[in-house]
Parts: sequence; structure tokens; C-alpha cells
Amino acid sequence: VSAIAVLRRGLAGWLVLGACCVAPFVVVAGDDDPLVVTSGAAPGYVDDEVCGECHGRRAASYHAGVGMARSFGQPGPESYVEDFARATFVHQRSGQHFELARRDGRLLFRRWQVAPDGQPINLFEQAVDYWLGSGHHARVYLYRTAGGELYQLPVAWYEQERRFGMAPGFDRPDHDGMLRRVRRECLFCHNAYPDAPAGSDARDAPQTFPARLPEGIGCQRCHGPGARHVETVREESARAEAERRDEIDLARVRAAIVNPGRLAPQLRDDVCFGCHMQPAVALPGVRRFGRGDWSFRPGQPLPDYLAQVDVDVEGQPRGERFEINHHPYRLRQSRCYLEGGGRLSCLTCHDPHRKVPPQERAAHYRAACLTCHRADACTGAKHAPRPGVAAGDCVACHMPRRRTEDVVHVVMTDHLIQRRAPPEAERLAPREERDPVITGVELLEPQRLPSGPLGEIYRTLAALQGHASAPVVDRLGRLLNEAGVDEIEPWLALAEGQLKQRRFGPAERTLARVLARRPRLAQAEEWRALALAGQGRHDEAIAALRVLEERGEAGPEAAFNLGRILLGRQRAEEAVPALRRALERRENMVPAWFHLGNAYAELGRDDEAVQAYERALALEPTHSGAYLALGRALLKLGRRDEALRFWRHGARAAAKPEPIAAALAAETAPH
Ligand code: HEC
Ligand code: HEC
Ligand code: HEC
Ligand code: HEC
Ligand code: HEC
Ligand code: HEC
Ligand code: HEC
Repeated sequence: VSAIAVLRRGLAGWLVLGACCVAPFVVVAGDDDPLVVTSGAAPGYVDDEVCGECHGRRAASYHAGVGMARSFGQPGPESYVEDFARATFVHQRSGQHFELARRDGRLLFRRWQVAPDGQPINLFEQAVDYWLGSGHHARVYLYRTAGGELYQLPVAWYEQERRFGMAPGFDRPDHDGMLRRVRRECLFCHNAYPDAPAGSDARDAPQTFPARLPEGIGCQRCHGPGARHVETVREESARAEAERRDEIDLARVRAAIVNPGRLAPQLRDDVCFGCHMQPAVALPGVRRFGRGDWSFRPGQPLPDYLAQVDVDVEGQPRGERFEINHHPYRLRQSRCYLEGGGRLSCLTCHDPHRKVPPQERAAHYRAACLTCHRADACTGAKHAPRPGVAAGDCVACHMPRRRTEDVVHVVMTDHLIQRRAPPEAERLAPREERDPVITGVELLEPQRLPSGPLGEIYRTLAALQGHASAPVVDRLGRLLNEAGVDEIEPWLALAEGQLKQRRFGPAERTLARVLARRPRLAQAEEWRALALAGQGRHDEAIAALRVLEERGEAGPEAAFNLGRILLGRQRAEEAVPALRRALERRENMVPAWFHLGNAYAELGRDDEAVQAYERALALEPTHSGAYLALGRALLKLGRRDEALRFWRHGARAAAKPEPIAAALAAETAPH
């Protein structure tokens, strides 16, 4: 048991602990500030600012420079790294114009097109609610819907090129526009845990977020929940004060918090790997059954929380792949790691609380190399000197930067420590965005995961995320029956796959099985209604969805599906309120706007139909059906010029322009 002196300064209630080792810190003793402690899905956490009260120096250096401290936040003057003078641009491939502008202390996003008459058309405006990414490399922008879901906007800031451009994955004619969902997995890696209700992070729980979100990856994502630690320090200090002792029991204080540096090597690595080990951004790992997204704690084995997979990509051996989040993936291929006797870890080179300033960079990393290599070990620096590189700058030659394959406007440090890296022109050559063709999926650490059919189920579930093809869905069904798996997550995934394959009968049976185990599970009941509707059992489907609505458990999809089915049964009058309820929660739901337009058109409420179609097109300016229907509604209202304007534009901009061109030709043909 080690102990440090408690120095009494005569300040009421204050004890100043003269620290021997870590950093000087001040302890607020007694019952001063009641700690605000989280409960729910991630209980026992305090505001990360509390840590700084005692570990001030560490907190200051973390916040001053480390990207992780500034990985997520709200727009505001202090948080900008962007050059907004360059925030208006045209994306030629999709024919869309973009702008980010600061207005009245807020950040406003706009997207529009230009019609053949030279005027803007299909304008979409949205206030930005959050940015994601410190901007050390890149930053993207998110907005929140009324129902608490998060969506990504299609533009990004690229720091290394100091310009805005299309966000990763959006540089294509048919990009997702403003409709790409941000799921909990994304914030798991990019932020501290939110204070969210228990169970709200389960697989079947809606992808909604509490109104208040933390800002940045705080201390406790690496150190675990800190309330007990802080309470222990306070208790110990109060007791020492009362007993007029000069020492507190530091062992107790330390035991109440995780220090990754003291964990067994594998568990220590797991702390970082939960967020940094991502073999393929295209196929993320699968949460272990029964585990909520916010349930991982430092000190636990990562594979108990996440079954990670590695992939094979067509035409590229694994050793050549390089993505933005490949630090451990590449490091582990290095001889230094493989032959280093388990000594090489992230911490060999990185202090996670401190950003190494550029002028210290060469010496800092050289020192790390020299923990294993002798200063004269290099057989190359002298023979193959590089202009502008000092012989002591080991990483400049052995860990150089390289352009990533998934985020083509970013270069990162290749953590494969190589004898001879490819020449710079090759490493940094411009790249086009390209979807990798995945030809194989295998578990990343099979020896730490269940073997046999259960392991195979995780592997299959990972593959299913890429493409729900019939053979993969069948395979999952067979495996689940063989293995007699009881947990509901894989059965829900099977039902989803069956629905996507339009195999409604089998989906209904799968969901019945889920509901037998978890009666009234909203997700299962909602999908069961879809399976019923798919088999033509519309009245049963409508009744089931109405029950969900009455229980207040219907998300926007359920309300939408109800409206859709009602509309299909010529019950437009009832469809309207259902579709409106969907849009009250998710105001960017394009099919809901489109069918709401159809419902109004059927009821002869053409003005309202026009508004709904216009909204659909502002969100999705390639929606052929909306152009056609909007033109027809405008013609009915006698607004022929506007109808022709949309058709002229749609004949160029829609995904399927032919029917629009035909309608335009028929309308403008001389009678
Ligand atoms: C009230 C003061 C106080 C607060 C607040 C506080 N700590 Fe500590 N912390 C201490 C003391 C005292 C020690 C023991 C110092 C030592 O070991 O020399 C310590 C030690 C640690 C250690 C080292 C444990 C080990 O095994 O070596 C970590 C990690 C740590 N704190 C993290 C945190 C985090 C994270 C927070 C915020 C949730 C936090 N602390 C809040 C006082 C505090
Ligand atoms: C498995 C964890 C993980 C997931 C999931 C993940 N990321 Fe990342 N992301 C990372 C890590 C780690 C980095 C690279 C570290 C760095 O940039 O220094 C990164 C880098 C980034 C960057 C560049 C940050 C910068 O300036 O350095 C952006 C922007 C980003 N990710 C956006 C996203 C978005 C949006 C999602 C979800 C749709 C997402 N990421 C999903 C872990 C993840
Ligand atoms: C990205 C992960 C990460 C984050 C974020 C992080 N730490 Fe740490 N912390 C570590 C690791 C790893 C160690 C062990 C370092 C070592 O042994 O080399 C550590 C060690 C410590 C120690 C003990 C130091 C010692 O040598 O006894 C304290 C205290 C501490 N951290 C406090 C904090 C505080 C306060 C914050 C937030 C301001 C924070 N940490 C954020 C990973 C992290
Ligand atoms: C909660 C997820 C998470 C954990 C846990 C985590 N990281 Fe990170 N790390 C990230 C993300 C995300 C980024 C990129 C942040 C950004 O720049 O926006 C990042 C960035 C970094 C950077 C670059 C920092 C900079 O200033 O650009 C280093 C180095 C790093 N992490 C090391 C570590 C180490 C070492 C550990 C384990 C002790 C660790 N990380 C644990 C998510 C995480
Ligand atoms: C042998 C030394 C070494 C080890 C081990 C190491 N890194 Fe790095 N890392 C570097 C260097 C060098 C840089 C570039 C620093 C700079 O440019 O200032 C870097 C940069 C980073 C960055 C910032 C983005 C980038 O690519 O430039 C992240 C994130 C990162 N490392 C994560 C990790 C993680 C996670 C681990 C553990 C798996 C790890 N590193 C292990 C040397 C190392
Ligand atoms: C944990 C110990 C360790 C650290 C730290 C370490 N290495 Fe190594 N490295 C090794 C071992 C072991 C080998 C393989 C045997 C040998 O060549 O000595 C190796 C091999 C190499 C090789 C030959 C690679 C090949 O493919 O033939 C190079 C180059 C190298 N290291 C450079 C570095 C540089 C540069 C750093 C710092 C950024 C570094 N190493 C850090 C242990 C380490
Ligand atoms: C100017 C570029 C450059 C710098 C700087 C440099 N190296 Fe090298 N290093 C090389 C080249 C090139 C080779 C390969 C020589 C060969 O293949 O014959 C090499 C080889 C090595 C090897 C493998 C030796 C062997 O024969 O197995 C090690 C280890 C190594 N370097 C470590 C270091 C360390 C440590 C530093 C920093 C003190 C460093 N290098 C700095 C270019 C460099």
C-alpha cells in the first residue's frame, strides 16, 4: 500500500495532496459538489471535466492537442477549423451545389441544383447540429431529426487539402445526399458514452440519441466509469482529515479506476482496439448477442463485446490494403510486432494524453525505436539517404504517410514498419473512390471467439451486413436451427434478411419465434406486420400496426408502413395522418413525402400534394416518380409553366429520366 502525504493548508474543506508521482492535484474533500453520476445503459460515469479537477495537467494537455478530445462537438466559433471562404462548391457528378454558411451563430447547410432556366431548384436547407472529427484529417457534419435520429450531411472538410469536398463515399452521381443514417456504432468510436436509458442501446432498440450528447472522447472511454474512483478519493480524504492522518489509502483509490497501463497486454490493447482495430470499414464487426452498444468497459476482453472480421478484397492481398483506421491492423503485420516478443504496443510510441508537437516528432519516435533497436541498427539511412530527411528521423523512412483507400482525400501514417516503403509518388498518388469487392469474410481473432456453429453465425451475420443475398440468408437460417441459438439478435437479423428477399412466409415464422421469446417486442411486431402485408393479409397488418401506435411504440417506419398499406387499400383519408406522424418524427423520410403527395392527390388536395412532392425532391432530386407526379399536380392546378420547369429539369436530373421526357414531349407537342 503506497501513500502520499496530505498537507493541511488551513483552507476550509480543501486538502492539497502533494503528489509524488502523477501530477500535482487538488482534492475537494467532503460533500462539496454532489457528483452527477450517469445511470441507465452506461452507469457510473461522471462528467469528464471532473477528472481535470485533480488530474489538471493531464487533462489540459489532452484537451489542448489530442484529436480524441475534440472528436465530436457542436458548431460554434471556438470549434471551427474550417476555412468557410471555401465552403461553396459544385459537385459535377451529381450536378448539385453545396454551401455551409455561418448564420446568427449557427451553421447552415444548403444543397440545390440549377434548372435549365439557370435558376436554383430543389433547394434543401438544414441547420448543422454536430460536427464529427477533430479536423486533424477530416470533419463531417450531422443533423438531428425531431425523433432524435442523427444523419450525416454529404460534405466534409479535408484539413490536409484545406478545402471542402464530398464526404467519404459520396463522390458519385447517385450518392445518399442527406439521407445517410448515423448509427450508435459510429458514435461508439467517435465520442464518450451518452447518458441513455437502460436497454436503449440494444440491437432491436431504435437508433435514436438522447437530446444531450457528450462532446469528445473523454477520459473514461479508456479508464472506465469514474464515479467510484472520485467518491473513493473524497471518502479517503474526508476520513484522513477526520482522523487527523497525513496519509490516504492510495491503493484503494487506484483500485477504483482502470489504468490500461497496468492491464495484461491483451486487455490493454483491447482498450484501444475497440475503436482503432477496424480491418474493413465496409464490413464492421458484429456486437456479441446480449451486449448493448454502450456496454464495453476497459479491462474487459473486446471479443466478449464485439466479433470482429477481416475481409478479402478482389485483386488485392491483405498485406496491401490501407484504410483510414488501419493503425493496429498494419502494425500487427510488422516484423517489429511479430518478432518483438509482445513488447510492441500503441503505448510504446503514443502517450494518449499528449500530442507530440512537430518539432519533437523525429526525436520522440526515434526514442521509441531505440527501446528495441541499437542506434546503428539501420543498414539503410546512409546508403539510401532521402533529401530533407535526417538519419535520426526513423519514421520518415520506415513509417511514411500514405493515401488511404476509403477516404481518398486523406493521408495517414502507415503503421506497417517496413524496410523499404514504396516511393512517395506511389504512396501519395491521387485516388478515385471505389467500392471494394469483398470476396471473403473471416473472424479476426477466432481463438478468442466461440468456435463451431456459433462462431460461424457471427461470421455469417457480418457478411449479411454487406449484402443480404439469398444463399447467405439461407445459411444463417440453417445455422440457427442447427445450433439451437436462443438469443433474439440473430433471429431478428434472419427475419430482416428474409424480408429483404421478400420471403414473407418464412419471415413471419421467424418473427413468431422471436415474439414467443420476447412478447411485444416492438421491432418484431412491426416486421411481422410487413410480413403479413407482403402475403396480402392487409387487414391483419393494419390492425397490428395500429396496436403498436396505440402503445406509443411505433417508430417512423411503422407509421409510414401503416400509411402505405392504407393508401394501397384506397383509404387515402386514413393514410394522410399516418404518413404525417411518420414525418413528424423523421422529417427527411422521402417515401413518406412522396406517398403523402399521392394521398393528397387522390383526395383532390392538389396544393398540398405539390408541397409534399416538392419536399421529396428537395431531399432526393433524382426521384423520378416525384417529378412526374408533381408535374401532373401542377398541371391540374393550372400552373403549367412550373410543371414544365420541373419536367425539363427532371428529364436531366432524375434517376429514370425517360418517362419524364416522354411526359414533357406529350405536354409540349403541338395539338
Ligand atoms: C478528487 C480527486 C480526483 C479526481 C476527481 C479524479 N482522480 Fe484519479 N486519482 C486521484 C488520486 C489521489 C490518484 C492516486 C494517485 C497516485 O496513484 O499517485 C488517482 C489515480 C488515478 C489513476 C491511476 C490509477 C492507477 O492504477 O495508477 C487514473 C487512471 C485516474 N486517477 C483517472 C481518473 C479519471 C479518469 C478521473 C475522472 C473520472 C479521475 N481520475 C478523477 C484523484 C482523483
Ligand atoms: C470502429 C471504430 C470507428 C467507426 C465505427 C467509425 N470510425 Fe471514423 N475513425 C475511427 C478512427 C480510429 C479514426 C482515425 C483516427 C484518426 O483520424 O487519427 C477515424 C477517422 C474518422 C474521421 C477523420 C477524423 C480526423 O480528423 O482525424 C472522420 C471524419 C470519421 N472517422 C467519420 C466517421 C463517421 C461519420 C462514422 C460513422 C458513420 C465513423 N467514422 C465510424 C474510428 C471509427
Ligand atoms: C485514449 C485513451 C486514454 C484517454 C482518452 C485518457 N487516458 Fe489516461 N491513460 C491511458 C493509458 C493507456 C494510460 C497508461 C499509460 C502508460 O502506462 O503508459 C493512462 C494513464 C493515466 C493515468 C495514470 C498515470 C500514471 O502513470 O500513473 C492517469 C492519472 C490518467 N491516465 C488520467 C487521465 C485523464 C484525467 C484523462 C482525461 C483528461 C485521461 N487519462 C484520458 C489512456 C487514456
Ligand atoms: C472511443 C474510441 C477510442 C478509443 C478507446 C481510443 N481511440 Fe484513439 N482515436 C479515436 C478516434 C475516433 C480518433 C480520431 C479523433 C479525431 O481526430 O477526430 C483517435 C485518434 C487517436 C490518435 C491520433 C490523435 C491526434 O491527435 O490526431 C492516437 C495517437 C490515438 N487515437 C491513440 C489511441 C490509443 C493509444 C488508444 C488506447 C490507449 C486509443 N487511441 C483509444 C478513437 C479511440
Ligand atoms: C513504432 C511507433 C508507433 C507505434 C507502436 C504506434 N504508432 Fe501510431 N503513430 C506513429 C507515428 C510516427 C505517427 C505519426 C505522428 C505524426 O505525424 O506526428 C503515428 C500516428 C498515429 C495516429 C494519427 C493518424 C496518423 O495516421 O498519422 C493514430 C490514430 C495512431 N498513430 C494510432 C496508433 C494506434 C492505435 C497504435 C497501436 C495499435 C499505434 N498508433 C502504434 C508511431 C507509432
Ligand atoms: C518492441 C521492439 C521493437 C520496436 C519498438 C521497434 N522494432 Fe523494429 N524490429 C523489431 C524486431 C524484433 C525486428 C525483427 C528482427 C530484427 O530485424 O531485428 C524488427 C525489424 C525491423 C525492421 C526490418 C523490417 C523488415 O521487414 O525486414 C525495420 C526496418 C525496423 N524494425 C525499424 C524499426 C523502426 C523504424 C522502429 C521505430 C519506429 C522500430 N523498428 C521499433 C523490434 C522492434
Ligand atoms: C533515409 C531513410 C532512413 C532513415 C532516416 C532510417 N532508415 Fe533504417 N533503413 C533504411 C533503408 C533503406 C533500409 C533497408 C536497407 C536494406 O534493405 O539494405 C533500412 C534498414 C533498417 C533496419 C533493418 C536492418 C536489417 O538489415 O535488418 C532497421 C532495424 C532500421 N533500418 C532501423 C532504423 C532506425 C531505428 C532508424 C532511426 C534511428 C532508421 N532506421 C532510420 C532507411 C532509413
